[in-house]
Amino acid sequence: MATTTKTSSAKKPAAETAKTTTKAPAKTASKTPAPAATKAPAKSKAAAGSVDLSTKPTGKTGKMEDSEFHEFFVDELKDIYWAEKHLAKALPKFKKAATSPELAAAFEKHTEETKRHIETLDKVFELLEEKAQAKKCDAMEGLLEEADSIIEDTDSGTLVRDAGLILAAQKVEHYEIATYGTLRVFAENMGHTEVVELLSQTLEEEKATDVALTQIAEGFVNQQAASE
Ligand SMILES: [Fe+2]
Ligand SMILES: [Fe+2]
Repeated sequence: MATTTKTSSAKKPAAETAKTTTKAPAKTASKTPAPAATKAPAKSKAAAGSVDLSTKPTGKTGKMEDSEFHEFFVDELKDIYWAEKHLAKALPKFKKAATSPELAAAFEKHTEETKRHIETLDKVFELLEEKAQAKKCDAMEGLLEEADSIIEDTDSGTLVRDAGLILAAQKVEHYEIATYGTLRVFAENMGHTEVVELLSQTLEEEKATDVALTQIAEGFVNQQAASE
């Protein structure tokens, strides 16, 4: 959070300088953004530990095993690995709880996709020459507990149940989108091209799932739930 705040506040003056200047300030404008851009990643302790992110690592996998940033990256992969594995077990429960066949079908489809996401992460660990290991993801655990509560608090056979399930599932998808979006950028920073490609494929499926859930909600679920 501190990094984001600092980065955005550091950028503002640069943009303002560029706007208010005429000829000579071109120098200021070109000088000011440069340090802001290079400093941003170095502000995190992990990034600083990687020494030089602009240097592409050597080796067939581009592994930077000695870097703190690499360790952090792998740790976060283990976290989402745990999250995907638990989601794969939870989605069939979502499907069973759903009222409308459309929502049940969406959960079934995403169960299969989620199983592929796990396999994709297996490949990512392999490419990085790291052990595929799950590390408890507190966020996913909480999101799935919330989904359980929604099922408990709503009556089966109602569209209110479906509206609640969509809410729970979209929170999960947004969590995954945030995670894969960030991990993909980390992989880019470290020069892991194949990993970037794999994480991007998963990210696109998470986004598509989120859109599909919105369509079901806006298509009929919310309206019918309101009239129950
Ligand atoms: Fe996933
Ligand atoms: Fe997902």
